[in-house]
Amino acid sequence: MVTRADIGVIGGSGLYSLLDDAQEVELTTPYGPPSDVVTVGRIGARSVAFLPRHGRDHRHPPHRIPYRANLWALRSLGVRQILAPSAVGSLKAEHGPGAIVVPDQLVDRTSGRVQTYYDAAGAVHVSFADPYCAVGRSVAVSAARSGGWNVVDGGTLVVIEGPRFSTRAESQWFARNGWTIVGMTGFPEAVLARELALCYTSLSLVTDHDAGIEAGEGVTHEEVLRFFAANVTKMRTLVADAVQALPEERTCSCGSALDGIKLPFDLP
Ligand code: ADE
Repeated sequence: MVTRADIGVIGGSGLYSLLDDAQEVELTTPYGPPSDVVTVGRIGARSVAFLPRHGRDHRHPPHRIPYRANLWALRSLGVRQILAPSAVGSLKAEHGPGAIVVPDQLVDRTSGRVQTYYDAAGAVHVSFADPYCAVGRSVAVSAARSGGWNVVDGGTLVVIEGPRFSTRAESQWFARNGWTIVGMTGFPEAVLARELALCYTSLSLVTDHDAGIEAGEGVTHEEVLRFFAANVTKMRTLVADAVQALPEERTCSCGSALDGIKLPFDLP
């Protein structure tokens, strides 16, 4: 039975059956409990911890997800590399529903979310110029290409506070800035991973064209859920392929994110 894991997957439900020899682990952290129990198991030769971002019953809306507890819990299981599948809207006419974007940049348009572990005992400033793991990105892009997806290698993910979708004017502004996709959960997940020296890779499934890009009524939650559900089997395969292609030894810079920094507490 697996009780530790190298790789964490933070995703929507439907990915459980990915894991062999799976067992559920109930955890708590200095930041409270994570979104749900973590399922730890294997995909091929790799040990994997799966955490449903919104909880199995989808009880945590994007602005209330216990992001700090989630990343802390995964690290405490031994996880050092994270794959983060999520649904996003497209800000480009040419990237329609069904595309997989592996972003290389992020714009934070959230407000009021706690975005650091280092908010009390002394300042810690991590570099975040490149928010995603370079190796994880390249593995994800190759896995998606091999799986026959329409893949966008790079692009900017705008993370909005939600839970409402963007107005047409906001969406058109994002698009005019040249940004690629819009979602509600990619931040502070990515920066908290960096603050724990974890590799973090976003696998963004386009479920809709955002309001400023299409002439119609604008996106609905139902449309997003329906599209994600219709693609969950294919996403499962993509995540499994990417997990198995991640290197066992990290050669990227993510693991050195805290080198030379005096931390106010020990990491799990
Ligand atoms: N998630 C899926 N589609 C989205 C959109 N258009 N805006 C924000 N989050 C999304």
